[in-house]
Order: sequence, then C-alpha cells, then structure tokens
Amino acid sequence: MRKPVIAANWKMNGSLELCEHFARNLVRPEYADVWVFPTALHLGLLTDSFRDSVVSTGAQNVWCEPDGAYTGEISATMIGTLGARLALVGHSERRAMFGDTDHLVAKKFKKIIDAGLVPLLCVGETLEERESGLASEAVQRQLDAVEEAWDLPVYSHEAIAYEPVWAIGTGKAATAETAQEMQALIRDHVDRKGTGQGQTVRILYGGSVKASNAPELIAQNDIDGFLVGGASLDVDEFNQICEAVKG
Ligand code: PGA
Repeated sequence: MRKPVIAANWKMNGSLELCEHFARNLVRPEYADVWVFPTALHLGLLTDSFRDSVVSTGAQNVWCEPDGAYTGEISATMIGTLGARLALVGHSERRAMFGDTDHLVAKKFKKIIDAGLVPLLCVGETLEERESGLASEAVQRQLDAVEEAWDLPVYSHEAIAYEPVWAIGTGKAATAETAQEMQALIRDHVDRKGTGQGQTVRILYGGSVKASNAPELIAQNDIDGFLVGGASLDVDEFNQICEAVKG
C-alpha cells in the first residue's frame, strides 16, 4: 500500500500573508504526506511553521554545486540547513524556460541526494511529443538521463511526478485514462530492472489538478497523489484535494 502524497508547487507566487494563511488553515491529514514547495524566499518561514508536523517543505529548484560564484542561485545544502526536506527537479517550466537539460537535471538530482534531501523528479512530454506518438519515449528518456548519469536507482527516492506539459496551467488535465496509461508505463519502466521499486515508488500526477477532477484521477491504480500548481494557492481547494485522496 503506497501512502498518497499531495504536493503544492507555488511557482513564483505567494506572499507572507499567504504563508500565514496557508499554515493556519491547512488540514494536516494522517492518511497522506503533504509536501509544500513555496518560493525560496518563503521557504524558511513555511518550514518553521510546519516544523514537527506531518507537512514537509522543499525548494522548487537548486543549483548543482554546494557553494561558490553562482550569483542568484541556491544550493541543496543551503536548503537542508533551513530544515526543508525536499527539492523539485526537472519541472517542465525549468526545462523549457531556464535551460534545465536532461544533463543538468541529472546533476541537480545528484546534488539534492548528496545534501540529504529527497528529490521529486518531474517528467512529462510536450504536446508536440504527444501528437507525434513520442510521449512514452520522452518520459523514459527523462528518467533514464538521471539514472544513467549516476547509475542511481532514481526510483528509490520516494516519488516521481508525471506532468504532461500540455496539461500544466492550461485547465486541461489529462484524462484519468491517459494519466493512468502513462503512470503505469513509468511504473513498468522502474520495474524493468527487477529492483521491486516500481511497487513502492509513489507516482504523482500533475497538470491542472483541481478538487473537481482529483477523485477520478486518484481512483486510478497507478496515481498515488498529485503535484498541484495553481489550485494549491487556495488552501480551501488544496484541502479538498487532500480530502479526495483519502482511501
Ligand atoms: P498546475 O501546475 O496545477 O497549475 O497545472 C502543476 C505544476 O506545474 O506542477
């Protein structure tokens, strides 16, 4: 039985007021892990607010060195010293807009592990890849890039997020069937080396998740939770999504 994960990706949104409101009103479920990824600016505050609770916090991005002359960047080691436990890596917005290639994602992934944090690797195909029948290849390439770079069992690290790029921020979530098909494929891909990790890794779905579509999505065998962007900025809606994953 895989414990569900509901993760909030605030992207470049949020304020001190939202942090306080969110910390005060978030219902802390016992049946699921709740992970919150605010901006780096708000990470310390939220980490303190959720200390000694079931809610874990993480960074949306890190650089792939522990310290040095990298103006504007933050290392995984620094995130760890705040008391945060997680870091997103490979989010499609970073891949598309900030030059996070498969190679760079692999480097960041390794640094996150070296710093003692849990990476949440995001994978997903673009619309073009889907329309040309290359969705599975794209996702497998993204997984393999990390695994092959370091010979790391990528999948022992708690969770992977499947986020089709065409579903992110568009209001057009993947259908439950499409998400299930891709997530089953990811699980099979994980299992192909016979490590058994395919059965334990939690595979989250992300892309226009809302309280209204969460029940149908979570009912699928291979959807173990959600990575929620826009809808996570509204704590009431986020609480409803958490409620939806209750078994
Ligand atoms: P969305 O974003 O829920 O706003 O589509 C999901 C994500 O990018 O993680």
